[in-house]
Amino acid sequence: MGLGGSSSTSSVESPGKNSFRSDSFSEGKDSESVLEKGCLSIVVLGASGDLAKKKTFPALFHLYQQGFLQPSEVYIFGYARTKISDDGLRDRIRGHLSQGNGTSSHSENVSEFLQLIKYVSGSYDTEEGFRLLDKEISEHEISKNSQEGSSRRLFYLALPPSVYPSVCKMIRNYCMNRSDLGGWTRIVVEKPFGKDLSTAEDLSAQLGELFDEPQIYRIDHYLGKELVQNLLVLRFANRFFLPLWNRDNIDNIQIVFREDFGTEGRGGYFDEYGIIRDIIQNHLLQVLCLVAMEKPVSLKPEHIRDEKVKVLQSVLPISDEEVVLGQYEGYKNDPTVSNNSNTPTFATVVLRIHNERWEGVPFIMKAGKALNSRKAEIRVQFKDVPGDIFKCKKQGRNEFVIRLQPSEAMYMKLTVKKPGLEMSTIQSELDLSYKQRYQGVTIPEAYERLILDTIRGDQQHFVRRDELKAAWEIFTPLLHRIDEGKMKPLAYKPGSRGPVEADELLAKAGYVQTHGYIWVPPSL
Ligand code: BG6
Repeated sequence: MGLGGSSSTSSVESPGKNSFRSDSFSEGKDSESVLEKGCLSIVVLGASGDLAKKKTFPALFHLYQQGFLQPSEVYIFGYARTKISDDGLRDRIRGHLSQGNGTSSHSENVSEFLQLIKYVSGSYDTEEGFRLLDKEISEHEISKNSQEGSSRRLFYLALPPSVYPSVCKMIRNYCMNRSDLGGWTRIVVEKPFGKDLSTAEDLSAQLGELFDEPQIYRIDHYLGKELVQNLLVLRFANRFFLPLWNRDNIDNIQIVFREDFGTEGRGGYFDEYGIIRDIIQNHLLQVLCLVAMEKPVSLKPEHIRDEKVKVLQSVLPISDEEVVLGQYEGYKNDPTVSNNSNTPTFATVVLRIHNERWEGVPFIMKAGKALNSRKAEIRVQFKDVPGDIFKCKKQGRNEFVIRLQPSEAMYMKLTVKKPGLEMSTIQSELDLSYKQRYQGVTIPEAYERLILDTIRGDQQHFVRRDELKAAWEIFTPLLHRIDEGKMKPLAYKPGSRGPVEADELLAKAGYVQTHGYIWVPPSL
């Protein structure tokens, strides 16, 4: 079924419906910004797994705490194979909801929230469990004085993608809301969406036969991070950036993800995927799209996603000379990792965008595990000042850095006069550090925000099917060369910067490191 196609039992949503949900963008907009009301059933499939416990339920709890999930209309169902009671599931979750202030009101909140959760046990590929689940949802709807089958039904698949097709089929056959009674059915899925272009396309085709694209929410949690969400505002609401954001002024752009721990506990999964599939092809590429895209016609999700797809389609084939792979020493000691694993735990890959704005500007994507620090940032390095009279070059280039995490911030590195009697120059920065500037403001967790978007029907921060395809098209040839052992990762020491060859590639791509200057996040 294509976009906006119809089906007999599914609630069909037209693309762009409910587009203006984001409060700050919705001012003065039409009635679409009014939230839907009525019975809401949230079903977490894979409820006893790690993702559900660590991310999905805590995110639902935060939404509940902030009043976005009203006990008068919401019920949460956990579904998994494990045979446990409602309390059994609640006990498993409780410990992960403890980010409160330890007060009695917090524990009351936790207890009230847990009472909203019911557990249903069943397999992922037979109908009994799903019939039972549907019965439980219907009972909830009736108890809320709604008509059976009339609710909003949100299915969150906190499951391995291998079971997506069978689970989706079961939902489609047994658990849909009845569109003629209002409401909707939506499905949330997590990466990895396939391992390469053809497996991803297979998966998309299978899901596409069961649900319309507007019903499918492909989560990339980087799109829920505060500073990633800020990118469009920053780029298109500020006159500063408009004339500078192009090949005439920008020399190179780095998008970096570093973690200071290895793959402990996840070796089995990771070894099958590697750092490019785990981080670069999705999280970093999504960030690249927002950094590089043209201004969308409007803030409607489809307009934004149209522009993102165009960027992806303009990326040139990756050249092997512009790739450095690494694997940290000791990675293979993990018993779940194969002894002759060729899987990279580190990669630097230069992407080149063939369009009028970016021709010649390298986008350096860098991601690694077991490195010397943990951070994610976008580093935009500007060209040297022409006709320089202040020896600016010696100071280092202008850079605009967006620190996604930790210590969310954006800062501009610039050359200024060194304070004092001498006329000499120094590197300094204009600094917008969130903790300092927005004291007392809690930055929402990515999952929290994205789940709220799914309830509101806003697909802006979710990956569309053609986006996913274009993303796999970029990386599949390289991934196949690695899988076939034609490219080998270089060894690096855990706790280091990664292979030195990666720094050499960075320099070759044009990045000029600033010496003698380091940005220190301001303390409160
Ligand atoms: C996940 C990856 O998608 O993102 C993990 O599978 C990685 O390997 C994680 O650790 C990083 O997320 P965050 O939000 O901590 O940067």
